[in-house]
Amino acid sequence: MSKTSSQQRGQEGQPYRLVQFTDCHLGAVAGETLLNLDTDESFVDVLQLIEVRESAIDLLVCTGDIASAGNPDCYDRFYNTLKAQFSSPLAWLPGNHDSAANMDAFAADKAILSRLVETKQWQIILLDSAVPGQVYGYLADYELARMQALLEANAQAPEPKHVLVMLHHQPQPVGSAWIDQYTLRNADAFYALLDLYPQVQSVAWGHVHQAYETQRKGVQLCSAPSTCIQFKPDLDDFAVDKAMPGYRWFDLCDDGSIVTGVERIDQKDYPIDYSSNGY
Ligand SMILES: [Fe+2]
Repeated sequence: MSKTSSQQRGQEGQPYRLVQFTDCHLGAVAGETLLNLDTDESFVDVLQLIEVRESAIDLLVCTGDIASAGNPDCYDRFYNTLKAQFSSPLAWLPGNHDSAANMDAFAADKAILSRLVETKQWQIILLDSAVPGQVYGYLADYELARMQALLEANAQAPEPKHVLVMLHHQPQPVGSAWIDQYTLRNADAFYALLDLYPQVQSVAWGHVHQAYETQRKGVQLCSAPSTCIQFKPDLDDFAVDKAMPGYRWFDLCDDGSIVTGVERIDQKDYPIDYSSNGY
């Protein structure tokens, strides 16, 4: 895994280090569990892992399911826990377990990015694919239009930037029938727009509680592990994986290339109910 020292950060030509973490599933009060795992505990463990492994972070992005049921207190706890540990800018977007309205209300007087992040060389577009009351994802017409307007303005700029798109739902199957019922339902429209803009280098998502990587028409596609329970990959029925909680990092390079990898908690004896056939 390549690393860049903190001294090199922010200097001309050095990669932009983005850390994606996702699917924290925090309960209404601290200490609530998911399949017997205290999701606050594993969230804090992953934050500590990030602090240990990352010498400098340009942006932290949480790609949804911050809360287990969208309770406003979750967002307050999430934010305060994070900000006690990191001074890096924070971006977030909602998942199917979140309340986008509660997130927006909470973020109103905070420095939380939820739509767009621009660096000198990169445009990072954050999308809301959550549909209230549904597990699957869908990009509303206005959200697709917003993405297209950003992509078009960038493409028309004298020096177009490279683009990373982030959302909660997987825009294509990841190989498990049970979670692939809940993809981004209008992925065809999403991809049709992306196909118009060669500046798009990567699409990253959460939701699937597993690390996944593939390519589509030269665009890198990937997901990140959850900060709590992991779903076992490549199975048509739900199963909990023994893989540990973790996060994904990206080095966004000035030439449009991306180096990415996943880090996980080395090993910890969480009392997870591995025999569960659903959650
Ligand atoms: Fe989730």
